[in-house]
Amino acid sequence: MRAVTLAQVPGSPEVTEAQVPRPEAGEVLVKVAASSVNGFDLGTVAGYLQGMMEHRFPLIPGKDFAGTVEAVGEGVEGFTVGDAVFGVVTKAHLGTGSMAQYVAVPAAIGIAHRPDGVSVRDAGALGLAGTAAFDGLALLGPLEGRTVLISGATGGVGAIAVQLAVARGARVIATAGSGSESGFVSALTDAEVTVVDYLQDVTAQVRAIAPDGVDAVLHLAGDLAELTALTRDGGAVASALTVPESSEDRKLQAAMIRSNPTADTLSTLAGQVASGSLKVSVNSEFDLERAPEAFAAFGAGTLGKIAITVA
Ligand SMILES: NC(=O)c1ccc[n+]([C@@H]2O[C@H](COP(=O)([O-])OP(=O)(O)OC[C@H]3O[C@@H](n4cnc5c(N)ncnc54)[C@H](OP(=O)(O)O)[C@@H]3O)[C@@H](O)[C@H]2O)c1
Repeated sequence: MRAVTLAQVPGSPEVTEAQVPRPEAGEVLVKVAASSVNGFDLGTVAGYLQGMMEHRFPLIPGKDFAGTVEAVGEGVEGFTVGDAVFGVVTKAHLGTGSMAQYVAVPAAIGIAHRPDGVSVRDAGALGLAGTAAFDGLALLGPLEGRTVLISGATGGVGAIAVQLAVARGARVIATAGSGSESGFVSALTDAEVTVVDYLQDVTAQVRAIAPDGVDAVLHLAGDLAELTALTRDGGAVASALTVPESSEDRKLQAAMIRSNPTADTLSTLAGQVASGSLKVSVNSEFDLERAPEAFAAFGAGTLGKIAITVA
């Protein structure tokens, strides 16, 4: 099969021939039709995950997938050949990822059926970003009537988080660079989202809107210390990047997001996409053969998601 491979890390992703994986007991073999680029994949290429997870070479990166079930391993229930599925590759090792024509994934975690009304491309870009946004907002507690600052709102996770937070009744303040970035965030939802320019003084802009501080912060990018200082005492901070410092005296609820792509979470997100209440903002697409360019594009900064389509 064709696959993005890394001979070593740090390394450069190439598209080469690779062996089609065999589904082990409890696994589903998926014929991949779409994937997408995540920060996790760039971290893998850069070698940042060495020492944290076993690496198997040649290493195929890729967390997100959408496609059809090609075969099922022993003991798998709930999935049959031909089912339309999507999800997030969730394994204890790195190397058998989804940027390939086939991927074998556990049936127990990180896979769900793709409903009618969700395109393959959108499903292939939804899994990890959607789960991170969903789980991150859950860490912030009830959002109805609360002011939530989403820092990194222009990214794959942020674009979904803005929509989910609005749907939960939050008053959202979202960061964006100047120019078209601001328009991108405003167009995510019909509700009013206040956009602050992260290239300017974020503290001054947020204090002008919420003088006593925001109720909660979703940290997907930017200076966590500055964002924490903008949170009112007793508020909540969830970070996708690091473990935030919890402060006893300020009674802050602080936690790192650890995305857990359960079938329930994936199905909930896909249901919202199917009903039209959630958009997956795919802003560019690359064929698998051009996946190295997709990595470069992600590294250079884009709005929303970069999809990879697999023939
Ligand atoms: N913990 C988990 O389970 C988990 C799961 C998924 C993702 N993540 C992490 O979460 C982060 C966000 O993921 P993503 O996929 O959304 O990444 P992304 O697509 O790269 O989004 C990050 C966004 O933040 C913007 N940005 C850059 N500097 C900023 C600043 N100082 N203030 C505000 N915004 C800024 C970027 O804009 P420009 O393009 O203009 O630079 C970009 O649009 C990544 O670090 C990723 O690795 C963690």
